[in-house]
Amino acid sequence: MCGIVAYLGTREAPPILIEGLKRLDYRGYDSAGVVVIKGGGLVVRRSVGRIAALEEKLDAQIAGARVGMAHTRWATHGAPTEGNAHPHRDASGRLAIVHNGIIENYRVLKQYLETQGITMESQTDTEVLAKLIGHFYEGNLEDAVRRALRESRGTFGIAAIHADEPNKIVAARRGSPLIVGVGDAEYIIASDAAAIVQHTSQVIYLADNEVAIVTPEGFKTTNLEATPVDKHVDELEYTLEQLELGGHQHFMSKEIFEQPESLRTCMRGRIDLDDSRVVLGGLTSVARELINTKRIILTACGTAWHAGLVGEYLIEELARIPCETEYASEFRYRNPVIDFGTTVLAISQSGETIDTLAASREGRDKGALVLGIVNAVGSTIARETDAGVYLHVGPEIGVASTKAFTGQVAVLAMLAGFLGRRRHLSHERLHEYLEALAGIPEKIAHTLNLNNQCRHIAADFVNSENWLYLGRGIQYPVALEGALKLKEISYIHAEGLPAAEMKHGPIALISEDMPVVVLAPRGHWYDKSVGNIEEVRSRGGRVIAVATEGDTEIQHIAEHVLYVPDVPELLGPLVTVIPLQMLAYHAAVLRGCDVDKPRNLAKAVTVE
Ligand code: M6R
Repeated sequence: MCGIVAYLGTREAPPILIEGLKRLDYRGYDSAGVVVIKGGGLVVRRSVGRIAALEEKLDAQIAGARVGMAHTRWATHGAPTEGNAHPHRDASGRLAIVHNGIIENYRVLKQYLETQGITMESQTDTEVLAKLIGHFYEGNLEDAVRRALRESRGTFGIAAIHADEPNKIVAARRGSPLIVGVGDAEYIIASDAAAIVQHTSQVIYLADNEVAIVTPEGFKTTNLEATPVDKHVDELEYTLEQLELGGHQHFMSKEIFEQPESLRTCMRGRIDLDDSRVVLGGLTSVARELINTKRIILTACGTAWHAGLVGEYLIEELARIPCETEYASEFRYRNPVIDFGTTVLAISQSGETIDTLAASREGRDKGALVLGIVNAVGSTIARETDAGVYLHVGPEIGVASTKAFTGQVAVLAMLAGFLGRRRHLSHERLHEYLEALAGIPEKIAHTLNLNNQCRHIAADFVNSENWLYLGRGIQYPVALEGALKLKEISYIHAEGLPAAEMKHGPIALISEDMPVVVLAPRGHWYDKSVGNIEEVRSRGGRVIAVATEGDTEIQHIAEHVLYVPDVPELLGPLVTVIPLQMLAYHAAVLRGCDVDKPRNLAKAVTVE
């Protein structure tokens, strides 16, 4: 989704702004723009398409400025054209804003402005906001911003400058993330820490309805009513190396291969094998309430929702607590029944997904205990929930989620163990489970050796336009995740199904043109999964099986077998998902797709 970078300091702003935009590039965008204060006025450049097109427009007129803002836009209101790209200016042309989010009442505000003789040049809600701020401007930018935002409904992360106050940036947020980086005699304001980390590790996370005013003299923060708000300066968790490719062709590949290490970090200090216990520090304050919970609702979107489905299996099996996994976008709007004793568990890599945030607020408003399982430290969901567990898998840059999925499953697996012991699991059974969980990073490292085989299989099927993924029990969410990975980055249509559902319709699709990936590791559902493979084979379908090492039988019925190490059934998704990530990756590379930035997609979906 859209990205914001703003700079005020002693260095040249344009290169810092462009570099910042490039760091946000992974979030997805369709146009870009920059504005600086120079020569007593504003200089604006905008372009459609990649940031490189904007760079070409950066001439001598813009060079040398010390204050400026830049933006990448992901179109919501109005097509991706230069005229709709940010920054947008007020009627005087001396005030500019960049904006993430949606001003929901922009039509009403626009009508009001039109009655004041102010007309619009673009189709955007952002221009309406820029003109409204300009309309209220009486020589003090922060007053005008606050006044306009008090009139605005919807979500925003904005930064604003005015040529009459050339040493000031005003930033504010509601619903869209905004972070103020505090450097040495400089400030970098951005919608994502990735644009800040190379300049400073000191940051201020703005909360909803807060305004930051930065000048060379320092910064201050207020609420929308102008009451001062005290803010902590926090330390960023990111490092610059984590944002580099490290020899890989794509971030997705890097992140797939990082999984042994990212899971070690995720579980470090949380699994105590000596005492056979799980230590989740982030839940200490709510432990009693959580242990006594009667029902858990896991809510999330996309890959995180798949992780939630795995979590449902784990928690029900180990802790015997009834669980339901809900799409956040549905849950938030359907007036869900949340009775006393319900816990809502919001799962999100970015911590900014608007539907997941709204679902957690729905839980909070109805009196549930609301927990977050989040990767991005300081993100909105992390701050708004009662308590939670961070993934600590490091920044995920590829749009296709990989290490966040395994991190989410690992956290849910630890949570299931934690709750299980307090409900009914024996010390011995928990110890055995935790030992296996702690050993998963090694098993994943071994599974990564399938990379070449995955490349060959992807090459074999690269022209197939429809794939089916089948799984049973705890492998069913893995089938969904494998299908999602393939479709989102290679644009091949793929469907994930509980294997038994195939007979109820989808079996009609089976033909030699349709690869069918069957998750068939040893365990409860093994014989039934083999039965499904037979059904596909007997109808001419071509099967790629994911099976347990040592299972030689399956070679006779599947065309390809991807062997994964033997792990306890409940932890199976952590290894079986790995070859599916690699298959999708290679299929996308072979089809010449932009793996890290698939078309139409954004890394964090912060608007509805
Ligand atoms: O940041 P979140 O985990 O809340 O994001 C949720 C989904 O948008 C995300 O998992 C999406 O489905 C991924 N692109 C899938 O790879």
